[in-house]
Amino acid sequence: MTTKSIRASSRKDAHIDLALDPETNSEGKNSFDRMSFRHCALPELDIATIDLTTSFCSRHLSAPMMIGAMTGGTARAEAINRALATVAQEKKIAFAVGSQRAALENGQSAAYLRDLAPDIPIIGNLGGIQLAQSTGLDLAKAAIDDLQADAIAIHLNPLQEAVQPEGESDWRGVRDAIANLVRTDTAPVIVKEVGAGISVQVAKELFDCGVMAVDVAGFGGTNWARIEAARRRYDTNLFIPFLDWGIPTLECLLSMRGSFPDQHIIASGGVRHGLDAMRAFWLGAETISLAGPLLAQLLRHNKTPSPDSLSGLVDQLQRQMALTLFLTGAPDLAAFRRKEALIDNKLI
Ligand SMILES: Cc1cc2nc3c(=O)[nH]c(=O)nc-3n(C[C@H](O)[C@H](O)[C@H](O)COP(=O)(O)O)c2cc1C
Repeated sequence: MTTKSIRASSRKDAHIDLALDPETNSEGKNSFDRMSFRHCALPELDIATIDLTTSFCSRHLSAPMMIGAMTGGTARAEAINRALATVAQEKKIAFAVGSQRAALENGQSAAYLRDLAPDIPIIGNLGGIQLAQSTGLDLAKAAIDDLQADAIAIHLNPLQEAVQPEGESDWRGVRDAIANLVRTDTAPVIVKEVGAGISVQVAKELFDCGVMAVDVAGFGGTNWARIEAARRRYDTNLFIPFLDWGIPTLECLLSMRGSFPDQHIIASGGVRHGLDAMRAFWLGAETISLAGPLLAQLLRHNKTPSPDSLSGLVDQLQRQMALTLFLTGAPDLAAFRRKEALIDNKLI
């Protein structure tokens, strides 16, 4: 291992601990509470028959849900990813790994994840900055190959990199690198933020590059400016005005609503429960992804990952999603999108 990759590994473990700290979370600031649905007192449905099934990357899902990109590349990260993949396979939801760069550069494979989760969409991950470097395309192809990934997510995290003590500062060439990766046709390309949101203008640029999906990863959940600021020993005051910078997830979805009717939008960033997930779905997100809350549940009892505990939370989320449909009188996802929704108590 090189000094650089040892540093990247200890950074990843520090990220896991800091992401679990309530001080680095902006929960509740995602604006989801502005949105409600018209209650239906006569649903004429059996709640047990509500149908949440859908598909993603041509694979069947029990509900439009994904375990968001988190980690990989260290012993601890491997134990976490094994548990996440096992639960995703059992519950038939999609699973995204965290950045594969450090692992691939160290010659480590995560191919065991495909064995654990043969039937569900597995999404690879690489940073936009890394993709734009001279070895970026090869790294992306290796990332897809290693996991037999159904798609690769490229993360855009300019705020995080700016606050990160060892962060990168040159973002030139990232859009072209994404367009080049799309052109190789190795796997569908998803582009995501990590908690500061994607605007409608940036989403348009990305769809124009041919990306398969955009994950808005908005503000209101895991807060990377706060996580990286907590890792700094100097210059911390410089970043104080930017600790709550970002577009709340609901605002991202509202601004994109109707703009990309034929494109796949993924919602993440501060989704707290199944009602938030269905708010995002109603606004146009086809898949809803959660990261921090699932990690917190997985590591809840002690530092050893507990798949049973996470499995229980996924069940709860899906029951809340089904309850949202039931209480609006919708038997399935398509019918639910036709129900009335309100923002700030006004019909939209
Ligand atoms: C511990 C941790 C590590 C993460 N690492 C990555 C990563 O490597 N790549 C990435 O695209 N996103 C990463 N994320 C961001 C998430 O995928 C997600 O976009 C963000 O946390 C917002 O969702 P949340 O509020 O549900 O946590 C990470 C999140 C957490 C909690």
